[in-house]
Amino acid sequence: MGVTGPRLLRAPGDIRSVAVPLLFAGYATSGALLVTVLHGYPASAGAGLLAVAGVVAATVISARALGARQSRAVSRSALVVAVVALLTGTGLTVAPGAAPAEPHDHGPPAARIADEPSRRFTLTAATATVDAGGRNVAAWAFNGQVPGPELSATVGDVMEVTLRNRDIGRGVTLHWHGYDVPNDQDGVPGVTQAAVRPGQEFVYRFRADQPGTYWYHTHSASDVGVRMGLYGVLVVRPGPVTGLDVTVPVHTLAGRPLPAPKVEQVEAGRPVRLRLINTDSTTHRYALAGTAYRVAAIDGVDLRGPTPLVDTAVLIPAGGRYDLVFDAPATPVALFVDGRAVYSTGPVSTATGAWPVLDPLGYGTTAPVPWSRFDKTFTLVLDRGLDLRRLVPRYAHTVNGAADPDIPPQVVRLGDVVRFTIVNRSQIVHPWHLHGHHVLVLARDGEPAAGSPLWLDSFDVRPGEVWKVAFRADNPGMWANHCHNLAHADAGMTLHLRYS
Ligand code: C2O
Ligand code: CU
Repeated sequence: MGVTGPRLLRAPGDIRSVAVPLLFAGYATSGALLVTVLHGYPASAGAGLLAVAGVVAATVISARALGARQSRAVSRSALVVAVVALLTGTGLTVAPGAAPAEPHDHGPPAARIADEPSRRFTLTAATATVDAGGRNVAAWAFNGQVPGPELSATVGDVMEVTLRNRDIGRGVTLHWHGYDVPNDQDGVPGVTQAAVRPGQEFVYRFRADQPGTYWYHTHSASDVGVRMGLYGVLVVRPGPVTGLDVTVPVHTLAGRPLPAPKVEQVEAGRPVRLRLINTDSTTHRYALAGTAYRVAAIDGVDLRGPTPLVDTAVLIPAGGRYDLVFDAPATPVALFVDGRAVYSTGPVSTATGAWPVLDPLGYGTTAPVPWSRFDKTFTLVLDRGLDLRRLVPRYAHTVNGAADPDIPPQVVRLGDVVRFTIVNRSQIVHPWHLHGHHVLVLARDGEPAAGSPLWLDSFDVRPGEVWKVAFRADNPGMWANHCHNLAHADAGMTLHLRYS
């Protein structure tokens, strides 16, 4: 338009009558393109009207500038359309059907367990300087260390964790990632508790009855908080440890991977369990070289009939955990994360880059899905879009075209069997994470899951993928349901599951 406009103006008069329709066509095409890129799916009346308003206004202005003849009635109605469209499209008036987020209603508090704690910990959050692989960097740390202390327990323990905040201005909470605690212990500020401010404390108490590999992290300003170091490992073992059983949390601090903890040498034949934990916001690729291994558990839940894998890599989503088990061979083994050795017992071939990647949906022994019908079904379309509901417009990460806090909560009843269909319409991976529940994977891209039942709390929905997952609503409360790329979660991709 910028190029043709002036030329058309200079052209003989009879071209002007052609120019206005031409310009209109151009504006309409650009408007449609903008709606597609900025707003995305699903189309909403608001965005449509906004686009119409823009096209009408631009056409009227162009017609004026070109001096084309037009009737008053036409410009008046154009003005009316534009104003109405602007008002509804920007959300200055609430468009019908655009349900505002419901106020958080906590309902009766979940019964806090009264049992005498058997494991007590204190975590004090504070700013700190920590050694990140030979370089001192500014961090936010629990008890002065990144990661924070490893909390370990045996199934049946009653955990009591006192959180103190010394000087973290953004506030701190503890969220037990993947641990299906009672709602009031879930650590989501503004939803299950208030953030713990400098000088304050909060005591968490829950029964450790889920065995497996988990982690804890702050959920207050979670993107920056976790990135700066406010996280640690939570491991609940079914009984005494036999062999070597170690956690390998992977984290990037100040742009650099933190060194992995030292792992002791083990004599050949001893069982080894490596509990891999991805505490970053993006997927990592892990390759265990020098031995066959099995994936014994994902997200804390044992797999059914895992078979030995050789020269195969695994992809762990943000927030996810894989337990790899093997018997220590007499020859060296090494674990590579994104091609970098984080643990090794000697020289091992580093050519792991070309290894195939395990698809957990086809690994292990299948078992029937425990439900045949679903009481509630929800579809979540993940995309990007312009969020005009705030003072400053933002290019948000959206669910069904809306951004937090404007995404309507999903309401379920206790006992419902709930199915989510998650569609990634964007260009980037979204590691999905529902609090308080593990979900059973039913299908991906229309293909039913064919391996061991997968009960996950964190799974990567890649661009273009469609996942179907289900769970039984058995843990009442108000639960965050969000992308675990925490920058995305902060930029709109958070909603809530609420029990009625
Ligand atoms: Cu690991 Cu809501 O988070
Ligand atoms: Cu995301």
